[in-house]
Amino acid sequence: MLLAENAEIRSFADVQALAAADMEAVNSLIRQRLASNVVLINQISAHIIGSGGKRLRPMLHLLAARACAYRGNGHVLLAALIEFIHTSTLLHDDVVDESDLRRGRKTANAVWGNAASVLVGDFLYSRSFQMMVELDDMRIMRILADTTNRIAEGEVLQLLNIGNADTTEQAYLDVIERKTAVLFSAATRLGAVLAGLPTEQEEALAQYGLDLGYAFQIADDVLDYVSDADTLGKNIGDDLAEGKPTLPVIHAIAHSSAGQAASLRRAIESGGLDSLDNIIAAIRDSGAIEHARSRAEHYAQAARSTLSALPTSPARDALSLLADYSVNRSS
Ligand code: IPE
Ligand code: IPE
Ligand code: MG
Ligand code: MG
Repeated sequence: MLLAENAEIRSFADVQALAAADMEAVNSLIRQRLASNVVLINQISAHIIGSGGKRLRPMLHLLAARACAYRGNGHVLLAALIEFIHTSTLLHDDVVDESDLRRGRKTANAVWGNAASVLVGDFLYSRSFQMMVELDDMRIMRILADTTNRIAEGEVLQLLNIGNADTTEQAYLDVIERKTAVLFSAATRLGAVLAGLPTEQEEALAQYGLDLGYAFQIADDVLDYVSDADTLGKNIGDDLAEGKPTLPVIHAIAHSSAGQAASLRRAIESGGLDSLDNIIAAIRDSGAIEHARSRAEHYAQAARSTLSALPTSPARDALSLLADYSVNRSS
């Protein structure tokens, strides 16, 4: 990473500038490693990878490695394969959620169907393991194997909660820890692992990623009710349509009038989008948006405070700023 040791990090653009050289290497490696002789794989992976995405997980890994004063090249490979894992979960997630818009484009399942999406998701997922093995480091493989297994658990747990209006806030947190936060945590932990930092600092970076992941997913679940498709690049109301009890709904059910709580419960139990406007109004009336935002802010604050275990550096400042960004982003 080309960075001035005294660079000031005040905005997301500053973070991007700080990570730009490494991110360019990551993006070029991503393009290189997507290649397959099977045309459909190239088409689908070019569709989803080429439509962008924030590349937040690879960026977090690169910055974590840099904040740990890592000087090698392994972070570029790890960042790329972490994005492959993320992308494969998106391909699978859009099938499970029956979503038809992602990153401002039709989803792969909407264009090529569910079977093709699942199979190309498997391709990306197994490609990430091929890349992992190149590092020839059992510790790194163990962390990523455990992480991907937990993600799968999270998706299955979430499936079990579909249509359940009695889902508790704790059950929701158990899902988002697994489906989202553990990958952020692995991304940042692995920065410390590459640099060979002592356990205390490695655990601090892992905790930072975990808390940021909670904040990020809670913010995502708020955006699903308050944003719009043009801004978000995804359709809003996807969670309700599927009967997925996320924090805004869970809190609203517990803090609404009996009548509104009953219609929120019905919406989760039956899924569908018939009453999206009414549901959004009921959620807003209950204060659930403010509650969820303040929970997200709480986790972001926890993430920021954990960073004090690392020495000051522009990369550490960038990590701190990304905790804010995860909550305050609009897409
Ligand atoms: C989407 O992740 C899945 C969630 C965990 C909410 P991102 O919002 O990071 O997706 P992209 O990669 O930027 O499209
Ligand atoms: C994130 O959950 C799913 C994964 C981490 C695989 P969501 O279902 O909320 O993600 P989006 O909103 O479709 O991106
Ligand atoms: Mg989804
Ligand atoms: Mg979502």
